[in-house]
Amino acid sequence: MSQPKFYLTTPIYYANSRPHVGSAYTTIVCDVIARYKRTCGYDVAFLTGTDEHGEKIARAAADAGMQPGDFVAREREHFRRLWRELGISECRFVHTSQNPDHVKSVQWMIEQARKAGYIEKRKYEGRYCIYDERYVSDSTEPINCDICGRPAELVSEENYFFKLSAFQDKLLELYHTNPQFVQPEFRMNEVKSFVEGGLRDISISRRRLKWGIPWPGDPEHVVYVWYDALTSYLSGIGFRGAERSKDFEKFWMGAEGPNEVVHLIGKDILRFHAVYWPAFLWAAGLPLPKTMFAHGWIYYEKDKMSKSKGNVVYPEPIVKALDELTGAKVGNDALRYYLLRETVFGQDGNFSRDALLTRYNADLANGLGNLANRVLTMIYDYCGGQIPNHHDELRETQEHISESKVPEAGLARALEEGCRERPQRVGHSLDQLDFSGGLLELWNLVSLSDQFVTQCKPWVMAKDTSKRPLLDHVLYRAAEALRFISVLSHPVIPDATQRVWGQLGQAGRIENVRLDQLKWGGLKPGTKIGKPEAVYPRVDKKQAFERIEAMENEIRHPASVPSAAAAGQGEGSLATSHSFAPSRAEGPLATAAAPAAAKITIEDFAKVELRVGIVKSAERIQGADKLLKLLVDIGDEVRQVLAGIALAYAPEDLLGRTVVLVTNLAPRKMRGLESNGMILAASVGPEGKPVLCTFAEDIPPGAKVK
Ligand code: MSP
Repeated sequence: MSQPKFYLTTPIYYANSRPHVGSAYTTIVCDVIARYKRTCGYDVAFLTGTDEHGEKIARAAADAGMQPGDFVAREREHFRRLWRELGISECRFVHTSQNPDHVKSVQWMIEQARKAGYIEKRKYEGRYCIYDERYVSDSTEPINCDICGRPAELVSEENYFFKLSAFQDKLLELYHTNPQFVQPEFRMNEVKSFVEGGLRDISISRRRLKWGIPWPGDPEHVVYVWYDALTSYLSGIGFRGAERSKDFEKFWMGAEGPNEVVHLIGKDILRFHAVYWPAFLWAAGLPLPKTMFAHGWIYYEKDKMSKSKGNVVYPEPIVKALDELTGAKVGNDALRYYLLRETVFGQDGNFSRDALLTRYNADLANGLGNLANRVLTMIYDYCGGQIPNHHDELRETQEHISESKVPEAGLARALEEGCRERPQRVGHSLDQLDFSGGLLELWNLVSLSDQFVTQCKPWVMAKDTSKRPLLDHVLYRAAEALRFISVLSHPVIPDATQRVWGQLGQAGRIENVRLDQLKWGGLKPGTKIGKPEAVYPRVDKKQAFERIEAMENEIRHPASVPSAAAAGQGEGSLATSHSFAPSRAEGPLATAAAPAAAKITIEDFAKVELRVGIVKSAERIQGADKLLKLLVDIGDEVRQVLAGIALAYAPEDLLGRTVVLVTNLAPRKMRGLESNGMILAASVGPEGKPVLCTFAEDIPPGAKVK
């Protein structure tokens, strides 16, 4: 039988600045769904990408002093890189500019709609919001955009119009006969009342704008960015207008049997998807997606996180700080778990670092991590590192022993039943996109397993050889529960569950386990387990806060950190300058996203004490690839400074070198060594390679730089 098909899309993100936790949220949720659907046996296509045309992008490029093509090519990489760093599973990436296949698709869509009589040229005068790329009012009176609240701009031009009004009845019928088309239900109600209120035709071309897809047959116009962007859901999977790839036929047209097309979007772009998109598809004679789900917003400090407001939290500092502080790859899991567990999907959520770290320590470190470590260590120590025999015959005995004598008997049954029913229960939650509910189900099983181990006290049984079968019986059950929990939670926390999988002695990738094959008793006695290692080491919240904040600041206020390459603040800071802090070329963009970083007064600058120093000695630090330990003579003293420049400079090349040092920074400890200052360096190229600041003349150490 052919595999069922599932095609899932994120919105394509505006390539006007780097992604934040709000944008990562949609992609992470999609990744969880894609992974889950694969474990259910679906052939999954998962699409994300960047939206690169339109007024907003053209202006952002102009602000950055760049050509739009170069600008979006650079911005696109932020997204690609972040999805890679966040471990987003196999997905296709579509971009709308510099993509001939996409151009062909959009022009074909327009042609079809024109041939079908849904497009005509008219004069337009009104107000347009460049941030939301939409017409706000047909009146020329000043008005604010009802989505973002900013003043809409006056436009007056002759445009091509799409006859959206012709689809009003058809849309209402669609909503009526297919109530699943928009989810959750309350969003469907919003859409319905909007359409019932009457639809007006929409302008779908721009005359004064050059940065867009040329209008077929009228190169003075470009195609409206939403027509262009929505078509990426087709071109991203191999649609080329009249020519179509096998994947497009399979995932969109349903050529190989039942298929599902699902768009996951934020609530702010629902109207474009639920009203415009079906009409554009009908006008081109193409089938509609099965459903779209509009999720809420992730707020930060009570405001919607948004690039244009400059109030954003970035995912990288959280992930990297947790990885760095624990010495394990835990940051992605922590972010994913927190976002899915804390926010009820569909509703708005609030992002808080404090809550994230609390969840990490409570649910991941003390919860699953501790359970895994306890169970695996006991198997390692008491069972010669092999999965013990299940001794199922003891189950019979248990049933004949009153629970007051052997309290664990009842718990053992509850645990087994809990595991047996979990795939179905968790699956049900995930099918409903109730991620927090599914995780709650799973963490109840974590608690039950913990309680089982605590009450059975295998460490006491281990001292009495007559209890050997019972010990095996208990540890087998605990390990089996751990296997169930790992497989079922893998879509949300893929990194640690893969490690537990390996430690349980299981070969291959955990994501290849099909849910319908997850059966109680599947763990083979005698399997050799790996050496137990903590999968989620605890973090010190205060330390984590400081580290995350420092990394965030490097992104948000690049101007306040003298050169992102900030060589003196050591390994962390350089590592972050590579990955997070925008390079010089990226500066204007980052400033646009964070207006607070703009100007400082001369008094602010005077607070930074800069002095000339001569490098007296330089050596590598064991275990820290990027760090060098330098002794720098600054005239009246010799300072120890840790600098994250080891990938760019060999220690011997630095001896006698003149450098510039920030001398009044608070000391900082790294790798147990104190760093007392920061060496300035330029950040060069996309990788932010550090190049030390120096002088053409001879300068004595200690001279002030101002
Ligand atoms: N380019 C359009 C989408 C075109 S799809 C054919 C766009 N891009 S966007 O970058 O502004 O937003 C992309 C997605 O990110 C939207 O679904 C939006 O809701 C989501 N989010 C942006 N900020 C968000 C939060 N703070 N919280 C949750 N989601 C957020 O719109």
